Amino acid sequence: MSARIIDGTAIAAAIREELRPAVEAFSRRAGRPPGLGIVLVGHEPASEIYVRGKLRAGTEAGLWVDLQRLPATASLAEVLALVDRLNASPRHDGILVQDPLPAAMGPGAAQQVFDAIDPRKDVDGFNPASVGRLVQNRPTLAPCTPSGVIEMLDRSEIAMAGARAVIIGRSDIVGKPMAMLLLHHHATVTICHSKTRDLAAVAAEADILVAALGRAAFVTPGFVRPGATVVDVGISRVTDRAEVERLYAPDSPRRATFEKRGSLVVGDVHPDVAAVAGAITPVPGGVGPMTIAMLLKNTLAAATSTAGR
Ligand code: GUN
Repeated sequence: MSARIIDGTAIAAAIREELRPAVEAFSRRAGRPPGLGIVLVGHEPASEIYVRGKLRAGTEAGLWVDLQRLPATASLAEVLALVDRLNASPRHDGILVQDPLPAAMGPGAAQQVFDAIDPRKDVDGFNPASVGRLVQNRPTLAPCTPSGVIEMLDRSEIAMAGARAVIIGRSDIVGKPMAMLLLHHHATVTICHSKTRDLAAVAAEADILVAALGRAAFVTPGFVRPGATVVDVGISRVTDRAEVERLYAPDSPRRATFEKRGSLVVGDVHPDVAAVAGAITPVPGGVGPMTIAMLLKNTLAAATSTAGR
């Protein structure tokens, strides 16, 4: 049996349509559209692609998206000065600084920048004030990727209350906030990581398995209880032909995509898992579009101050 595909592209499109009247109402009332400032430092290829997607989706949804670029040689002080300016701006309701920052800025740079964003404008939910409110289950702007996962599960009628949820990956951006959101939806939550003993056996206890570790096709059928829901947060670009041939059968359309593009976007979940899982989110077309939809939703919430402060 093959898993039900949870179509993130379609769910994200539905959310964007739902937001449209509220965006229009805000724009009429305020005399300006909701504004989102995106800070992109340097030219990291993956970040360029993500930011382009955010810019396009935001503009299509009727937001004003202001892309502020800084060179890869920018100092941390320059990024902080730009964040200060956006904090003070009456036209920027939301601020997003694309992660990662250039390595030359030092290991703690991104956190220092997230710390500097006004929590009322923190559409990524990475500021410690936002994180604290999320932990306490108080109204806040929650990180977009895990919020998108919750929306997908909810709208696909996957029961979270009482479910055993296992998350592979403990990042601040996905794993930890994902655990909090699932907990607030009354799941019993386990976070696994690189030091977890017998990882496959722990994962195989899950009714809902979230793979967010960033290693292409790491989660194989042995990690998955038959019938479980599998959410694939990973996005890796595979350029090695042998790896593509290992992952996909000769007649798979993914092989044709690889031939055309010379690379393939692959999730953390091995394609064979689709034969075991009950429901699965694809890559591409799963969590990715949901992340962007939730960014738009958070920007509107920041603009209308529905985040509760
Ligand atoms: N880099 C990868 N994902 C994200 C995200 O959700 N927000 C930001 N700011 N940077 C990212």
